[in-house]
Amino acid sequence: MRTVITLLFVFACFLSTAPVFGAEPDAMKQVDVLMNKMTLTEKIGQLNQYSSTFDITGPPPADEAGQARLEHIRSGQVGSMLNVVGVAATRRAQELAVKNSRLGIPMLFGFDVIHGYQTMFPIPLAEAASWDMAAVEQSARIAAVEAGAAGLHWTFAPMVDISRDARWGRVMEGAGEDPYLNAIVAAARVRGFQGDDLSKPDTIAACAKHFAAYGFAEAGRDYNTAEISDDTLFNVVLPPFKAAVDAGVATVMNGFNEVNGIPVTADERLQRQLLKGEWGFEGMVVSDWGSIGELMPHGVAADLKQAAHLAITAGSDMDMESSAYLKHLPELVKAGLVDEKIIDDAVRRVLLLKAKLGLFEDPYRYCDAQREKEVIYSESHQAAARDVARKSIVLLKNKDNLLPLKKDMGVLAVIGPLADDKDAPLGSWRGKGVTDSAVSLLAGIKAAVGKNVTVRYAQGATLGVGTRSFVEELSLNHDDRSGIKAAVEAARGADTVIMALGEEAFQSGEGRSQVEIGLKGVQMDLLKAVHAVNPNIVVVLSNGRPLVLTEINDMVPALVEAWHLGSQSGHAVADVLFGDHNPSGKLPMSFPRHVGQLPLYYNHKKTGRPGPDPGGLVFWSHYTDMPNSPLFPFGFGLSYTTFDYGDIALSNKEIAFDEKLTITTTLTNTGKHSGAEVVQLYVRDLVGSRTRPVKELKGFQKITLAAGASQKVSFTIDSNDLAFYTRDGQWRAEPGEFVVFIGTNSRDVQEARFTLKQGRQLN
Ligand code: NOJ
Repeated sequence: MRTVITLLFVFACFLSTAPVFGAEPDAMKQVDVLMNKMTLTEKIGQLNQYSSTFDITGPPPADEAGQARLEHIRSGQVGSMLNVVGVAATRRAQELAVKNSRLGIPMLFGFDVIHGYQTMFPIPLAEAASWDMAAVEQSARIAAVEAGAAGLHWTFAPMVDISRDARWGRVMEGAGEDPYLNAIVAAARVRGFQGDDLSKPDTIAACAKHFAAYGFAEAGRDYNTAEISDDTLFNVVLPPFKAAVDAGVATVMNGFNEVNGIPVTADERLQRQLLKGEWGFEGMVVSDWGSIGELMPHGVAADLKQAAHLAITAGSDMDMESSAYLKHLPELVKAGLVDEKIIDDAVRRVLLLKAKLGLFEDPYRYCDAQREKEVIYSESHQAAARDVARKSIVLLKNKDNLLPLKKDMGVLAVIGPLADDKDAPLGSWRGKGVTDSAVSLLAGIKAAVGKNVTVRYAQGATLGVGTRSFVEELSLNHDDRSGIKAAVEAARGADTVIMALGEEAFQSGEGRSQVEIGLKGVQMDLLKAVHAVNPNIVVVLSNGRPLVLTEINDMVPALVEAWHLGSQSGHAVADVLFGDHNPSGKLPMSFPRHVGQLPLYYNHKKTGRPGPDPGGLVFWSHYTDMPNSPLFPFGFGLSYTTFDYGDIALSNKEIAFDEKLTITTTLTNTGKHSGAEVVQLYVRDLVGSRTRPVKELKGFQKITLAAGASQKVSFTIDSNDLAFYTRDGQWRAEPGEFVVFIGTNSRDVQEARFTLKQGRQLN
């Protein structure tokens, strides 16, 4: 196993050249000096993290639990807090710790800044659809600038969990189904949040989560068991985490889930052996919320004391909201059950992060009220949010070039429950995004067309689901058809109808798994009624997960995937609808034809019966009532222009382990508009010691071309790019024949073959 892990480390090194989160001598010295002065209780206090349960700036909490927490802060038994936000609150909380505790050690303030602090950017799944790493990095950068200005030191992002199941609500928070794309996005987000120096107040520590395999929750049900092979763990799940570590991520969060019978919070192999051992991660591991306590209901710990014992031994350094460490580590150490060296190692990691953030020089360096006022939600941040949002839009269908629309058409009907919604675009996990603060689609369209077009608006229906709170959901009328009539009248005779359909913000996200992933409520009825009087429809979808669009796709001529795009959503969508921005997004997850196809992913195995059966029999791996293929494949997305791919040329037909192969094609913009295309490179290993996926993404380039222009596009790969977790537990390439594919998505590709000659991996 050690060799495998080492080789995995070697493999992942190619993903980034940035240094790992390292222990610089000065910071280490500072930490050592401090640790020499600390009592065991004070050390354990550093491993305790509380959420803010009372108003820090208000009067002291009246209840006993609040009083106890306050006292813990004052006595140096709280190393970190989450959900204390804003300069006033973080300063006040910091004062409580620094001014009252014996050693005055500052606390770390963490918050879920997932896709923006107050200026909301597209949800991470949408941003991944941009395949534009400069945009992804910029979004994280701005989130850090705003969060840092609000007194925060640490975000619990990026989530780098791969998922193949759109029923899982948290797919909105990651970069989709592919390990390569996830790895590249993870590194870009870490760079964006952390910048090049953590001590600058406009950078914050990042956190790669949830280590590991949380996205493989069975049946897409959040928090559910994950049961995966080492093949999937090493080849699919771990590479994005390794990429985040290589990019210097300061912290890692474990998760709620178990993998193959072991809850990850108590998994020594993952945290201590792999992450901290073989990968050399020197940062800190935080538990997920209460996940140490959850070792009891998981059934691996009889009580909280045993849970604390298991978690600290496994390598979980900080206890988020279980109070298990605070309550039980002192007695566990005194009884000799936990070696104090383990505590010291965990404390050193926490203090090292504080040192790197510059908190020992100035515990209040992130608490600048003037900066908070100036930078949060600034105009330049809004402009960036609009730009990233339009880059994240994916054009799924555009029959007869219905889009882009003209800004001088006569009558435009804008219909649907999401048309004038200023909240859904903010998405789930919205930091301090202000409710109802986004630019709605209707507002964006009106701003784009001015007085040149008559815009008729009708809501038509509600979303048919309300997940902001359970109470709200129960009170909703899911079958209300009363708005459909007015919508039909608005659509009648209009030149074009734009229908805004999909999901509200909190229909996806944590705890929001669904068994049906189509349009809820009476949205389909609304669409059909409108379609009956005016079929010239552009459906603009807002959603946090892949949806089943089979029926809609058959019905309407144009489909735009607009996800939850953040503060500037309406402007960004209007930019695309009216051709001010030519769409170039590509799907980071397969869109199924039917929910029964899930889990569905392009990089699947071939099986022994890939079919179809030449005799027309049923005995091959398929469904008898639906094709195996998705409706829209991974990597799919259209443009207002067209691109032609020339033949693939290979620099060699054969390469040795130490040689490189260059794969070249010529991309031509054959349409009438300038546009950007994501050229995708996939590889297939034809025969391996383990079964290999039918295709694996190995590279991509986003190329912008003027109408009529051509450009050569080349990719260079070597045996490191072909390496995988082999049958004998090694990370290496195996000699033999490979297929290389280049194309506009994972389905529509051209291919060529080459051979990797006999030999061995060099490192
Ligand atoms: C639970 C979530 O799983 C995790 O991702 C998040 O960071 C924490 N809660 C803190 O809010």
